[in-house]
Amino acid sequence: MAHNNMDQDILKVLITEEEIRRRVAELGAELFEEFHDRNPLFVGVLNGCFMFMADLVRASGLKSELEFIGLSSYRDATKSSGVVQITRDMQRDITGRDLIIVEDILDSGNTLAFLSKYLMSKGARSITIATLLDKPSRRQKAITADHVGFVVPDEFVVGYGLDYAQVYRNLPYIGVLKPEVYSK
Ligand code: IMP
Ligand code: MG
Repeated sequence: MAHNNMDQDILKVLITEEEIRRRVAELGAELFEEFHDRNPLFVGVLNGCFMFMADLVRASGLKSELEFIGLSSYRDATKSSGVVQITRDMQRDITGRDLIIVEDILDSGNTLAFLSKYLMSKGARSITIATLLDKPSRRQKAITADHVGFVVPDEFVVGYGLDYAQVYRNLPYIGVLKPEVYSK
């Protein structure tokens, strides 16, 4: 029996499991350098962050806390509408906290522009953005991440947390979907 019935939908692998593992270890080390004398609060953006968050917090080795926020950008198939909504809010007070936002991909920047403003309005002391992927060619908002795993070209990618219509999040690598999968 095949162990995976998703590979057949992938046009090409952009970033392998091993490349992700090595890069996440480096990002974790960067965060440890920066935050080891603070007690940062990681804020993961659901659902895309879940795999990266799990690996990054372990790689950081930081004495820290975790929170999650659910955001939806009214994404229609593969494009963002620019309107961001909170679908699940954080469960506690973040006043005076040093936050590390953990996001799967920084694309138009609408999500992170909204989230940064929201978190500052809730009294955050500082905000640091860690994103696994960055697609700078598609930016609409003046947002840059402080820690970037990989810069990717303007292609729709899935895997390692990223979805197409909620599927493919559990692929262990980052890949580009075959065009026929969209048009089905
Ligand atoms: P932004 O608001 O346009 O920066 O988009 C942010 C969100 O859109 C990300 O958190 C992803 O959930 C989703 N997204 C953007 N590009 C891709 C992609 O290539 N594959 C899968 N999801 C994406
Ligand atoms: Mg996301």
